[in-house]
Amino acid sequence: MLQEDNNIPFFELLGNLQAREDALKKIAGKINDKERVLDLATGSGYLVRNLIDKDAFVVCLDMDVGPLIKTKKELPDLHFVVADARNLPFKNTSFDYVVTWSALVHIEDWKDVVRESFRVSNKMLTAEPHGAYCVRAFRDFRCMHNHPEVKEIKKEFETYGRTSVESGEFITIISTEN
Ligand SMILES: C[S@@+](CC[C@H](N)C(=O)[O-])C[C@H]1O[C@@H](n2cnc3c(N)ncnc32)[C@H](O)[C@@H]1O
Repeated sequence: MLQEDNNIPFFELLGNLQAREDALKKIAGKINDKERVLDLATGSGYLVRNLIDKDAFVVCLDMDVGPLIKTKKELPDLHFVVADARNLPFKNTSFDYVVTWSALVHIEDWKDVVRESFRVSNKMLTAEPHGAYCVRAFRDFRCMHNHPEVKEIKKEFETYGRTSVESGEFITIISTEN
């Protein structure tokens, strides 16, 4: 488990929302026009908002219908599915890319999500908060399970192919290299 760093006040973490926006833009930059993209655990849609200018076919999936309905109202051109990311309702290799932001750290059975992602696509990219940002978020959202460390996620990705990691101060992007 990560240790909480009480020396970092929450407003400082909020200040790093810019780091989040930069990371999400970076993800969007990896998506090519015409690609079929699955955004797992869409929630409030911070990541997919960065994809709307792409000429891509974007499917948003979350198992919580509430935030998904709200996001759908704001982004009516995208496609929305209520489902469990651990058991995706899609055929093998249905997508060119699976992307996620702040998803795996919230899902106890995250390895099942990675396995399902690599079943429906050959490429996956996840951006996860880490360090104090992550621990603080978990405390605030009362999420109690032992969320994975970046190195564990990387190791799991590597069982599916070459993997690269770009670490920022609060956010790490883990993605397949192909
Ligand atoms: C921090 S939010 C994700 C933020 C979002 N990716 C964005 O860009 O705004 C975490 C989301 O994970 C979703 N979630 C948790 N477990 C899930 C599962 N097994 N399948 C699908 N979604 C799940 C929650 O409903 C929640 O919306």
